[in-house]
Amino acid sequence: MRMEVEIAGVRLKNPVTTASGTFGSGREYEPYVDINRLGAVIVKGVANKEWLGNPAPRIAETYGGMLNSVGLQNPGVDAFMLEDIPFLRRFDTKIVVNIAGRTVEEYCEVVEKLRDADVDMLELNISCPNVKEGGVAFGIDPKMAELATREVKKVARQPLVVKLSPNVTDIVEIAKAVESGGADAVSLINTLIGMRIDARKRKPVLANKIGGLSGPAVKPVALRMVYQVAKAVDLPVIGLGGIMTGEDAIEFMMAGATAVSVGTANLLDPGATMRILDEMEAFLQENNIRDIRDIIGVVE
Ligand code: DOR
Repeated sequence: MRMEVEIAGVRLKNPVTTASGTFGSGREYEPYVDINRLGAVIVKGVANKEWLGNPAPRIAETYGGMLNSVGLQNPGVDAFMLEDIPFLRRFDTKIVVNIAGRTVEEYCEVVEKLRDADVDMLELNISCPNVKEGGVAFGIDPKMAELATREVKKVARQPLVVKLSPNVTDIVEIAKAVESGGADAVSLINTLIGMRIDARKRKPVLANKIGGLSGPAVKPVALRMVYQVAKAVDLPVIGLGGIMTGEDAIEFMMAGATAVSVGTANLLDPGATMRILDEMEAFLQENNIRDIRDIIGVVE
């Protein structure tokens, strides 16, 4: 059975990747996951300098999912290059670096530093809902999304994936804008802005008041968006949003995704990616499908 797929010239041994922010750079998961079996690790967003993130509480469970308002806490690109890349390079998997920034200049600064780094792909994060500057501001405006993509693309050595926000009226418009800006692929969806209220305290549960919703609650929205974007642009799509089982992953691929990312499921079950990979292989076996690429976009 062939599980290999290709995104922008980068070969993944299988389509299963870890969603940015939910897997760090793999250290915490090493006891539970055979990192060598992953198609790629997409690491937590990395900025030009250390970011401390938002005040706590910044995680809240909801029915069918969770809210986060982490605010892109990260150690900065220098520490990341010193510590995380050598750790991940011990494994036979691809490394995709999620790029965070408040301005186009900050995005470019990170990407420029990564020119010399041994990483396989970049994922431009124009869709974080939890930071005041940058983040989703770029992801909800087609002109800004295109501009950020174009400027980053100029300095990037590695292929560029752009991560899209679901907090828009027309995600296809944004996908087309980043395609014109020169993106090599898109990933979607980032989290859907939501909130929880503690009725007794008459206060929002998250210190930041609002946060990004992820998990099975967003899966139908994510699947619809992947389906629409995959049909509208000529770019490979990495699909994510509430994937809990192998069959969920297969649905995203049938909707048009070339690869998938597992996020919230990792937090509930640290071995989720391994189980999902096994379940995908079992699905192919049961349905006599020899090459995973044969299911990509089969849903009309
Ligand atoms: O939901 C999210 N939370 N999406 C992001 O892109 C970043 C993250 C955070 O750190 O707040």
